[in-house]
Amino acid sequence: MTAQKRLGRNVSLGAHYAVHLPAPDDFAFWRERARGLIQCDVPPDRVSWIEPGGTGDLFAAEGPSRGEKRLPAPPADAPPVRASQRFLAVARSTALHTDPARFGLLYRVLWRLQRNPRLMEDKADPEVRRIEELAKAVRRDAHKMHAFVRFREVAEEDGTPHFVAWFEPDHHIVRAEAAFFMRRFANMRWSILTPRGSVHWDGETMHEGPPARRSDAPSGDPVEDLWRSYYASIFNPARLKVGAMLSEMPKKYWKNLPEAELIPQLIAGAQAKEAQMVSSGSLDMGEKPATLAGVDKAIHTCRNCPIGELDNHAVMGEGPIGAALMIVGEQPGDQEDVAGRPFVGPAGQLLDEYLVRAGIDRSAAYVTNTVKHFKFVWKGKRRLHQSPGAKEIDTCRWWLEAEREIVKPRLVLALGASAARGLLGRTVSISKARGAPLALEDGGELWVTAHPSYLLRLDGEAHETQAALFASDLAAVKERLEELAG
Ligand code: URA
Repeated sequence: MTAQKRLGRNVSLGAHYAVHLPAPDDFAFWRERARGLIQCDVPPDRVSWIEPGGTGDLFAAEGPSRGEKRLPAPPADAPPVRASQRFLAVARSTALHTDPARFGLLYRVLWRLQRNPRLMEDKADPEVRRIEELAKAVRRDAHKMHAFVRFREVAEEDGTPHFVAWFEPDHHIVRAEAAFFMRRFANMRWSILTPRGSVHWDGETMHEGPPARRSDAPSGDPVEDLWRSYYASIFNPARLKVGAMLSEMPKKYWKNLPEAELIPQLIAGAQAKEAQMVSSGSLDMGEKPATLAGVDKAIHTCRNCPIGELDNHAVMGEGPIGAALMIVGEQPGDQEDVAGRPFVGPAGQLLDEYLVRAGIDRSAAYVTNTVKHFKFVWKGKRRLHQSPGAKEIDTCRWWLEAEREIVKPRLVLALGASAARGLLGRTVSISKARGAPLALEDGGELWVTAHPSYLLRLDGEAHETQAALFASDLAAVKERLEELAG
């Protein structure tokens, strides 16, 4: 059978086809035309995809078969076109990009998919990579639109409120994203004006309108004051990361955001406030809870540092109020996180052994941690311990101080450098600080020793030396407790 016969009478062998898209975001139109062309076996280098107002490539414009009308009809017995779900999902977003080459690129990938159905799995393939990149940029643009559209209220002639927003998308996302706003603001009348077109919702029907200019949208009204006070109230100075904030909320969008006016002053204020908080040793987080149950409750919802955002649980200290000895570790480990109790894992078991040897009754002591949540990274299915940073320790001091004010121990024992920092608000070297009491800010007595997990990591002579030092530190603490009790 000749190629001409196989493809049907409508296909001109060697002809170049031009497809004129009715709109730059019309994926459904592209898909239908692309399917027909594939079924007619028209290779990518013989098709030009032309957007409204676009010229496509010159070769297509001059070619013999240019124009939509001349596209061939697929033969009745043409095989179905293969397109994986993955390809369709990526292509739907890619089609909304502003790259003029996107439709041709999508057609090339679709063409290749007919011969290699697993093409989309080849992450090293430059064309697959490129369409994934374009799709990602479009998704990011959509995310920005969801986050940064701000409506201003305008009164209609009949007195009903109408909310109007101005937005400048990078890509052709306005029609595609209108459904998101329709679901979210179903009962409002609103319009979103953009330089790429506008959409209007009257509570029942969506209408499309032409591109708009910024001056077509109102600016400033009482809704904005509400946003501003809301933003200022949720702005958490302890969690400010200027770089991350700028990448999430690029300056380009600031002019449409009423709260953005506040950002420079909030950043400057937050940095000053944070410096003052850290130098004064504690964050101002309002009133400290007056009971251990109150602290327990508060630490479970604490998100003042990023550790609380991980998949973990806060672990509260345990022991009697009025305990003469308070033992402070670094942070709960994996087993403590699961059990909800401090020092129950391997380091806790070693600590218990040494306490027994020193004659210290753990059940009479108050045992807690400097940082209340387990900081870790996933390694496969395992959660690997990560040391807390100075900022995280300083932030969590608030809760440790609250526990100390309630328990009122006569002596505090810090296990390791993180605990020492949590209690003193500055870094000390264990080897220099151990063996003699230090004064806490409020005059309390602090003893510092190594963390038991340090012993677990050592062997040989180093282990012998450190184990002896640890035992002797605990013996000194026991002696001092007896003196204080005396
Ligand atoms: N290490 C600590 O510092 N605290 C615990 O509770 C467990 C291990």
